[in-house]
Amino acid sequence: MKLTDLTFAEGFIRMCGDGWDQGWHERNGGNLSYRMKPEEVEEARGFFQEPGEWQAIGTSVPDLAGEYFMVTGSGRYMRNVPLDPEHNICVIEVDETGEKYRILWGLTGGGRPTSELPSHLMNHEVKKRVTKGAHRVIYHAHTTNVIALTFVLPLKEEVFTRELWEMATECPVVFPSGIGVVEWMVPGGRDIAVATSKLMEDHDVAIWAHHGMFCSGEDFDSTFGLMHTVEKSAEILVKMLSMRPDKLQTIQPEDFRNLARDFHVTLPEKYLYEK
Ligand code: 13P
Ligand code: ZN
Repeated sequence: MKLTDLTFAEGFIRMCGDGWDQGWHERNGGNLSYRMKPEEVEEARGFFQEPGEWQAIGTSVPDLAGEYFMVTGSGRYMRNVPLDPEHNICVIEVDETGEKYRILWGLTGGGRPTSELPSHLMNHEVKKRVTKGAHRVIYHAHTTNVIALTFVLPLKEEVFTRELWEMATECPVVFPSGIGVVEWMVPGGRDIAVATSKLMEDHDVAIWAHHGMFCSGEDFDSTFGLMHTVEKSAEILVKMLSMRPDKLQTIQPEDFRNLARDFHVTLPEKYLYEK
């Protein structure tokens, strides 16, 4: 028995491979984090190594004090996670101030958690609060079609949400709270983490212009499924725009209202404007 045989670790590792299979993780692109349940921490504890030194997170996440996370390593390739998990991912603990972390398992041979740790942890902190603890997964991927759209659509949440809702009937049901958009920013630091986590107050998806996407969810399946649904919708939009710049027909605001009623979702009216 190894830590990687525990159910949560198996799900984490499988998701990294699934993202690679989709083509979202060139080189070391993208990263994944999971907030462990107390019983998972207890199961994993017997496998922990001598703790590493406390390191600065680079931001402050006081509501995550004492939480444990499984996280991908910085510079590590998603495609290598299923092949050699111990070398490419780690388990970290956040200290009592929410300012520092230390490595308890993994990254054998050295290394540190993803450079996007500030964004991951600030998103986790917001989602833990607004979902009353339900959301545990934060996923960042370099999704090709969404990135392409950030060059041709206005960087506005109303535009991205509405255009992507129109491309597939399931979309408003899968992401009823819409998609936040962060204009181009330097990645890997606190500023982009603050901007992204602000959007996570109201959305489960945030686009980083010319870079990729962040998704939040309760478990690996639903978070991966969310990323997949948004990116698939973006692929349809790219294909549509490549065939002709305008639509001959589409789903109308009233259609969305009818869909919302039958599927028991609330769709904010700000996305159902007349064009
Ligand atoms: P890391 O290798 O540090 O996780 O960075 C990859 C990435 O996608 C940065 O945005
Ligand atoms: Zn990235």
